Amino acid sequence: MRKKIVAANWKMNLTLSEGSFLVNEILAAAPAVTASRQVVIATPFVHLTQTAAQLEGIGHIHVGAQNCSSEKAGAYTGEVSAAMLNDAGVQYVIIGHSERRGYFNEDSAMLAKKANQGLENGLQVIFCCGEPLEIRDAGTQNDYVGQQIKEGIFHLTAEQLKNVVIAYEPIWAIGTGRTATSAQAQEIHAYIRNVIAAQYGNDAAAGISILYGGSCNPTNAAELFACPDVDGGLIGGASLKADQFLAIISAMINS
Ligand code: PGA
Repeated sequence: MRKKIVAANWKMNLTLSEGSFLVNEILAAAPAVTASRQVVIATPFVHLTQTAAQLEGIGHIHVGAQNCSSEKAGAYTGEVSAAMLNDAGVQYVIIGHSERRGYFNEDSAMLAKKANQGLENGLQVIFCCGEPLEIRDAGTQNDYVGQQIKEGIFHLTAEQLKNVVIAYEPIWAIGTGRTATSAQAQEIHAYIRNVIAAQYGNDAAAGISILYGGSCNPTNAAELFACPDVDGGLIGGASLKADQFLAIISAMINS
C-alpha cells in the first residue's frame, strides 16, 4: 500500500523564530498520523537542524530540504551536500522543483545526479515535474512530463525507486491561485503511473506516491486527494499558515 503524504514547501520564507513558532503550532494541533500517512516539512537549509530537533521523536512528521548539491563534497561554494542533510536529521529532499529548474537552470542531467546524491545518502527523494502553461495549452503535457521523469529518474534501480516520491506540479498552478481541476490532476497522475509501470512494472507503479502541487489549499485539498492516483500534496503558500496546513493534513488523513 503506497503512502499518502502532505509535504510543506516553505520556499524562501520565515526567519528561524517564525519557523520554530509555526512548527510548534503544527505540533500542538496535528492529528495523529500512521505509518501510511506522512507529513513532511521542507524548510530552508538554515532551519533544518532546528526543525529536526523540534520533530525528533515525532513519529510521522519528517523534516525535508528543498534542494541538495549534485556533487558529493568539495570546492562548491554555497552548496549543501546530501550527506550534510542526512547528518542534520533530514529525511526527505525535494529535487527539481520548477523554481530550481527555471530560475537556477537545473537541467535533467543535474537533477539525475541530485537524485543519486539524495538516495546514496539515505534520503527520500521528492522528484518534481510539471509543465508550463504553453505546453498545457498545446495539450502536450503528458509527453513533456513523461520526458522529465524519464530523464530525471529512469536511471535508478527498482530498489532505489522505492525511496522516490513524485510531485506533479503544473507551473501555471504554482502560487497563482489557479489549481488544476481534480479531473486534470487525476488524468496526468494516472499517466505518470503508467509511465512508471512501463519502465519498472505494475508493482513499482502501484507503490509509488504521486503528490499534486500548485495552489492546493484547504478548500480544494479533499477533492484533489480523493482522486485514485493523487496520493497527497506538495504545499507552498498554504503551508505557511498553521490552520491551513493542518486542514490539508486532515484532508490527506481522511482521504
Ligand atoms: P503553491 O506552491 O502551493 O504556493 O502553489 C506549491 C509548490 O511550489 O510546491
